This record gives sequence, C-alpha cells and structure tokens, in this order.
Amino acid sequence: MSKVKLGIIGAGFNGQIAFIQNFYKNKKCEIYGLAEARQKLREKVAKKFKIKKTYSSHKDLIKDINNFDGVVIVTKRDMIGPLTNEFLKLKKPILTEKPMAGSVEQSIKLLRTAKKFRTMHKIGYNKIYDNGIIKSKIIFDKLIKHKTLGNIVLIKSHRLSGSGYDMNNKYLMSGEMNKLSKPNWPLKPKWLPKKYEKPYEKYLNLYCHNISLMRHFTGEMPKVVNADLSDSTMSIVNLKYKKFKGILETGFFTKKGWDETFEIYFEFGSLKIKLPPQHYKNMTASFILNNRKSNTTKKFKFKNSWSFKNQCDAFINDILKKKITTNKAIDAVKDVKIIEKIWKRYLNK
Ligand SMILES: NC(=O)c1ccc[n+]([C@@H]2O[C@H](COP(=O)([O-])OP(=O)(O)OC[C@H]3O[C@@H](n4cnc5c(N)ncnc54)[C@H](O)[C@@H]3O)[C@@H](O)[C@H]2O)c1
Repeated sequence: MSKVKLGIIGAGFNGQIAFIQNFYKNKKCEIYGLAEARQKLREKVAKKFKIKKTYSSHKDLIKDINNFDGVVIVTKRDMIGPLTNEFLKLKKPILTEKPMAGSVEQSIKLLRTAKKFRTMHKIGYNKIYDNGIIKSKIIFDKLIKHKTLGNIVLIKSHRLSGSGYDMNNKYLMSGEMNKLSKPNWPLKPKWLPKKYEKPYEKYLNLYCHNISLMRHFTGEMPKVVNADLSDSTMSIVNLKYKKFKGILETGFFTKKGWDETFEIYFEFGSLKIKLPPQHYKNMTASFILNNRKSNTTKKFKFKNSWSFKNQCDAFINDILKKKITTNKAIDAVKDVKIIEKIWKRYLNK
C-alpha cells in the first residue's frame, strides 16, 4: 500500500518535537503538507523534513484536502477547538493535542461534528502510549480479572513538576513573532468567572493527562468529593469511585525537576508507576508490583522508547485500520467533564 499522506497544522515547539520528527521516522507515512503561518519557520521545517507542500494557512491546506489521508493539529490551545471543528467536516482522520477543547460544551460540539461527518478524532494523551504504561495496564487488567491482590482500595495520581523540557531535544526556530491567534475559542466554560480563566486553563492543560490516565485504568467517572486548588503550590482533589477512593495531587515544587507517579493500592499489594517528563526522548515509565500475599516485590524497567513516537505510530496504524483504538475524542470529553466538576466543587466551597 502507498504511504499514508499526512497534513500538519503548526510547526512550533511541540509540533516539531512531539509530532513532525516522529512522523518523519515512520516508514508507513509521508508528511505531505505543512500549514505554518511563520514563513521562515515553514521553509526551514519543510526543508529539513522533506515536506512537499507548504501552506501559510490551514485554509489553503483545506483546498488541497483530497491529497491527504489524515491531519494533525498542533496549534496554541485556544485555536485547537475551532480548527478541529473545521477539519472534522472534511472526513479525514484527525489527531489533535490535548485538551480537546476548553469546556464540555465545546467538546460536545466537536463530538457532534465528528458524528455528523463520520470522522475519526483522536486526542494526544501521549502518556497512555508510554511502553511502561502499556505494560503496567496489561498487568493491572490481569490483577483485576483474577483478583490476585484483592480489591482496589485507593488510586493516587501525583504530579509535582518543573518545566521538564529536554534541552538536547532540539527544534528549529526562525526568530519570527508567533502572532497568529485566530480562530480561537475561550479556554474556559461559560459558567467560570473570568478571573479564574488562567488557573483553570493551566489546570486543564497540565493535569488532563493525569485524569485521562485514571480513566484509562479504571474505566470509571469518579465523583469529586473535595477540591483544594491552590495554583502556585499544591492542589489536592479527593475522588470517589464506586468501590474505592482516589486522590489527585498536583503542583509545582521547583522550576526544574519532575516527580510524577500513579499508584494503585489493593487489599494485598500495590502497583506503583513512576512517569518520566514526557518531552525527554527515550525515557519510559517504570513500575513496582508488590504482592503481600506472596511477599514478593518485582521491579519493571523497559528499554528506551518514547510515548510521543509511539503515539504518532499509533495514529498511522489507526488510519490504516480505519479505527481509533485508544484516546478517542468520545473518551477525552469525560476528562474535561471531570475537570469542570473539580472547579465547580472548588468554587462552591
Ligand atoms: N502533550 C503535551 O504534553 C504538550 C506539551 C507542550 C505543548 N502541548 C500542546 O501543543 C500545542 C502546541 O504548542 P506549541 O508550543 O508548539 O505552540 P506554538 O504556538 O509554538 O506553535 C503553533 C504553531 O502553529 C502555527 N499556526 C497556528 N495556527 C495556524 C494556522 N491556522 N495556519 C497555519 N499555521 C498556524 C503558528 O504559527 C505556530 O508556529 C499546544 O496546544 C500545547 O498545549 C502539549
């Protein structure tokens, strides 16, 4: 079969680091077109990654849409929603960065467009593609199926992070101003007072990853029991699932450094996963499985791999199989729902 022809919207920092360089390495696809508003940047990136067609706006790529098998949207967060809504009407599979939109209402609008035009829509929760997460989920599913460690009593997601960017993971820059800001949708639900817009956006952007991981493992939407959101230090959220409790601890402790874990406690043991800062190439989550029935502790470490690379490969496979297996938009909307619930709980206090 001929190569999957991809269109990419946005060749900024994350477009290059997380997507373009990874799709470039995938032999099953070709980055056929790039829409990038900054001219010099567009030319530099197209030259380095041998991209045939370039466009100064997504609108020009749309005119050529019949040449593409899929589109990847990596623009500023507030522009992802409206651009996705336009592209969903064109019936080509779409991968966008997370969060899928700024509110539940906006996310549902995207779901409706995708349904109407029968378009595949995938959200970039790259951590779910970390090899350590994939392996730990396989073990977790077996633990649940066979009740090896009894019932779950608590799940805890913890992220205290600094910047987490890898200075050796280079990308092209042009010195041009990053001015484009339209079309955009507000990154907040209508009910949220304007003064909370920035902290809400930050929370949504950073911790939708943690919330999606909790959903990916449990398959459940929890109730939000308590939410203490303090932006600059620690935020703590208490969750209640049908048969166990959950805690989400998030915040910043230093400009550098990264401390992220996802822990599942059972009656007779635990599964403790340590996640790497995701922009470091070739860093993989590791985990420890403790079984108090057999009094054993096993450590699991994996060869170097990168969640962003795996995510790009998965999107190409999704296009080829005409089916999104993981990170469907219809699931991602649940994460935005939980984040809105967290903020409602916090503000009603
Ligand atoms: N998964 C993660 O952990 C993670 C980490 C960092 C950033 N991100 C996300 O990645 C996205 C992109 O971040 P970034 O830092 O690369 O942003 P950026 O602003 O540096 O890059 C976006 C680029 O898109 C171009 N652009 C925007 N709209 C366009 C249009 N309509 N036509 C042509 N060009 C257009 C801009 O010129 C810009 O160069 C954001 O949504 C951000 O939230 C995700």
